[in-house]
Amino acid sequence: MRLPSSSATVLNKQHLTHFLNMNQFSKEEILNWIELMEVLKEARRKNALPQTFKSKSLGMIFQQSSTRTRVSFETAATLLGGHALFLSPRDIHLNTKETLEDTSRVVARMCDVVMIRDDLYADIERYAEASTIPVINAMSCDVHGDDCGNHPTQCLADLLTIKEHLPEGKKLEDAVVVVIGDASTPTASLAYATSKLGMTMKVISPMGYNLPQQVIDIANANNELSGGRLIITDDVNEVVGADFIQAEEWCWGRSPEEVSKRDVIFGENYVTTMELMEKAGPETKFMHVLPANAGGTQWEEHKEVTREVMESGRSVVFDEAENRLSAMMALLTYYSHPHHIEPKQEDIEFFQARTDKLLNSIFPK
Ligand code: CP
Repeated sequence: MRLPSSSATVLNKQHLTHFLNMNQFSKEEILNWIELMEVLKEARRKNALPQTFKSKSLGMIFQQSSTRTRVSFETAATLLGGHALFLSPRDIHLNTKETLEDTSRVVARMCDVVMIRDDLYADIERYAEASTIPVINAMSCDVHGDDCGNHPTQCLADLLTIKEHLPEGKKLEDAVVVVIGDASTPTASLAYATSKLGMTMKVISPMGYNLPQQVIDIANANNELSGGRLIITDDVNEVVGADFIQAEEWCWGRSPEEVSKRDVIFGENYVTTMELMEKAGPETKFMHVLPANAGGTQWEEHKEVTREVMESGRSVVFDEAENRLSAMMALLTYYSHPHHIEPKQEDIEFFQARTDKLLNSIFPK
């Protein structure tokens, strides 16, 4: 028997696309993502999920720690009938004993979809360039570097959460979303998506900590077509009229000197408190991609939100976290589809018989 030189998915390379960046999608495509999440979320509630990832493998490459992204991807793969492999830097040779491209090509010969979390967006692009299976960006962190960081899987969950908690009578494009804090990767992805959808987004950060100019330029260009707005400011009074406030942390991964500096810059002024929520509006909801510095952790002194806000009736942060699972189910469903080959009954019977015959010859009765 002549074996194929690679997996069935590799043979379908002409259909190959990757999920790297929210800006790669049109308004219609983003709305399709939201609808697919809604359908699969409802199906999960009814314990009636289609097995769209049946017998497939998801490779999960994490160069940094994760709670939500790991749990949601791994659970989504299982719920949809497939399997996920957790590949931390300690487990694989990525960029150490072998090049990133070689790892990418090997994983593509065995898995059906791969997700990667890496410091550099450029690394994720390199990984995707070498891959013959769909690659999902599970966060790149360098929003203030030369490249533009992204957290597009988070953004899908954010959009679904916003849609689910819209004030009565409002449509998605009417929503006013405010981000407060250090404008990093989730904010960049949200700026791309809201500007494609024609929404209003304000980013409130101290001078020098707002979105990089290249992200602002892309969002502004999108807004010219969609009718949306992006407001960049350091004035927290701009929260007035917000339907949603999303707080962003500002201390992780920094040197102690940098954290001390940021304590002064952010500490008093950019913390989301109940007073700020009241100022924003009586119905304003609180969002956070999590994990949050809201007290009760080693980052007690560097809060971006109070515990009172997190625990209040305005907080939708755990709905937002749960929606990561809907996002991952949508992603695995979508990225399996063009590669999906329905098995033929005759093929199943043929290969079962060949396997039985071979085993009987190896282990005669
Ligand atoms: N929001 C988010 O990406 O969380 P994790 O880092 O826990 O995956």
